[in-house]
Amino acid sequence: MREKHITLGEFIIDKQEEFKYSSGELSKLINSIRLAAKVVNYEVNKAGLVDILGATSTINIQGEQQQKLDAYANEVFMQALINREIVCGIASEEDDNYITIKGKNNDNNNKYVVLMDPLDGSSNIDVNVSVGTIFSVYRRITPPGTPVQEVDFLQKGSQQVAAGYVVYGTSTMLVYTTGHGVNGFTLNPAIGVFYLSHPNMEYPKDGTIYSINEGNYVHFPQGVKDYLKYCQKEEGDRPYTSRYIGSLVSDFHRNMIKGGIYIYPTSTKAPKGKLRLLYEANPMAFIAEQAKGAATDGYMRTMDIQPTSLHQRVPFFCGSINMVKKVNEFMAKYPNDANY
Ligand code: AHG
Ligand code: MN
Ligand code: MN
Repeated sequence: MREKHITLGEFIIDKQEEFKYSSGELSKLINSIRLAAKVVNYEVNKAGLVDILGATSTINIQGEQQQKLDAYANEVFMQALINREIVCGIASEEDDNYITIKGKNNDNNNKYVVLMDPLDGSSNIDVNVSVGTIFSVYRRITPPGTPVQEVDFLQKGSQQVAAGYVVYGTSTMLVYTTGHGVNGFTLNPAIGVFYLSHPNMEYPKDGTIYSINEGNYVHFPQGVKDYLKYCQKEEGDRPYTSRYIGSLVSDFHRNMIKGGIYIYPTSTKAPKGKLRLLYEANPMAFIAEQAKGAATDGYMRTMDIQPTSLHQRVPFFCGSINMVKKVNEFMAKYPNDANY
């Protein structure tokens, strides 16, 4: 008998009744992200050709400048979401402020806000290493019929209705959750279709990989230094393996599949950490918890942190549940470092 291959499009339709507010809008939203992911994937894949094509192209009389890939990805995701009239506002790591989308007849009746990091791992573009896109979806809290406000974006991560990422890697994958587990889809680039390749993704409870920019070691808080020494100690299944790509999405993806922990702590160089709570930490935390992993700031659950500004940064400890518990034990010995 032939195996049935489920496409992302089919999967979205099948799962529609699982959504809390099942009017089909969230399905449309995921569909527009699917489309934008394909467009960005196409561009990312030929990123190395840009200079070559630019040099030989004499016909471009528009004088159009090749946009940087992160600005391009931002534009593509923005347009895909704006055009579907499902979203009332978008906040992006690339833009200082959120944008308001008035929707059909300017009635401000759309329900969802999207927050995104359109291109994560941008320092890896020029060297042909995997990059990603991260997105996070909330239901607005201000009443429909009025323009969206900042409070609609400053919700705790626990209020997310969907979150996901795209990893533009050796193969391109879209991984997302709507609060019913995590599913991963791999793009067949020849025909532009995502297929369900990783149903019900789950972290192994224990892992043996730790991912951190260890070059910053001297700047780390003592709890992190102690944990790293623990990871490196010869005992039981230790020393652990160190793996750090420098693209959160890729490091996260590997750790979720193989079992591991990703850490971007506070440091004397980055006193509040580097990652953004709204565009990076919260969506990844939602996916991690849905995959039976955990995410904290070293002390408290990431998704319980009350956001106070759009671009706020947060220390991030995310991965296999027993590894996150362990590092939190080390951090708990230095309670003052919780006040970052
Ligand atoms: P972005 O490209 O969106 O700015 O994010 C980069 C982030 C994250 O993806 C990565 O894990 C981290 O920055 C790497 O930072 P360091 O170079 O400081 O290790
Ligand atoms: Mn990023
Ligand atoms: Mn980015």
